[in-house]
Amino acid sequence: MSYECILTELRGSGERKTGLITLNRPKQLNALNDQLMDELGQALLAFDADESVGCIVLTGSERAFAAGADIPTMAPHSFISAFKSGLISKNWETILQVRKPVIAAVAGFALGGGCELAMMCDFIIAADTAKFGQPEIKLGIIPGAGGTQRLPRAVGKSKAMDMLLTARMMDAAEAERGGLVSRVVPADQLLVEALAAADTINAFSGPSVLLIKELVNLAFQAPLKDGVAIERRYFHALFGTDDQREGMDAFINKRKPAFKQC
Ligand code: HXC
Repeated sequence: MSYECILTELRGSGERKTGLITLNRPKQLNALNDQLMDELGQALLAFDADESVGCIVLTGSERAFAAGADIPTMAPHSFISAFKSGLISKNWETILQVRKPVIAAVAGFALGGGCELAMMCDFIIAADTAKFGQPEIKLGIIPGAGGTQRLPRAVGKSKAMDMLLTARMMDAAEAERGGLVSRVVPADQLLVEALAAADTINAFSGPSVLLIKELVNLAFQAPLKDGVAIERRYFHALFGTDDQREGMDAFINKRKPAFKQC
């Protein structure tokens, strides 16, 4: 499949590969227009369906992960045209259908829809140059892809209110302190570190990986008691896999496990 607004490639040294997706509208700081979001959705679903892929890394450029939704495309909309065309609704949440882990590797600006897209990934590795923000209020609008909902869950109410109401940006160090990103790395190591994290995940048992993603996401929806009960059932179920026998035998015999289940 060839795309115009993104680049895709397979990376990784192990048996299971990483699907790398690079947002590629450099002149517009990777502003997210309809075509880019359609292409991103197609690429994500294609990697999710590809048995040779274990993990997906989503990245941008050195200057910007994405500076938000494409402002000139949004500008002419009226309420009726936004509502009827399903502005932001139809292709922005395809990423939430992906069952494999999606790691956001963020350098430079991740603003508005760019920050929301990064927050829809499973975790964010940030370059020390990363800047996160929800500056929609400066445009006379509000976030439309989950910013008011996911940001407070990530950084708490006070920091989220501050960022959303004042439009100030958060640098990588503050984002890590606040819990928005999992780790900060030197900018020139961003992709190396993100791909290494993906390689680590790719070497584990596929069912464990998929279940952890599903269950952590369930933690934000189900009451604690129900989430823990569902986790317990899946924990039991994994004792029916060859990979459980392999993992525990490898530990007992002091060798590296070779997981088979993808
Ligand atoms: C379209 C954009 C853009 C955007 C930047 N550009 N952001 N184009 N949509 N969101 C373009 C600029 O117009 C410019 O094009 C080029 O990228 C470089 O940007 P500059 O402003 O010249 O760069 P700089 O001075 O370094 O400032 C960088 C910046 C600033 C701080 C990121 O560009 C900025 O504030 N951008 C808008 C950020 C924003 O408001 N995002 C939220 C959008 S609303 P030219 O042709 O002039 O060189 C949103 C709603 C989400 O995301 C709703 C749900 C998804």
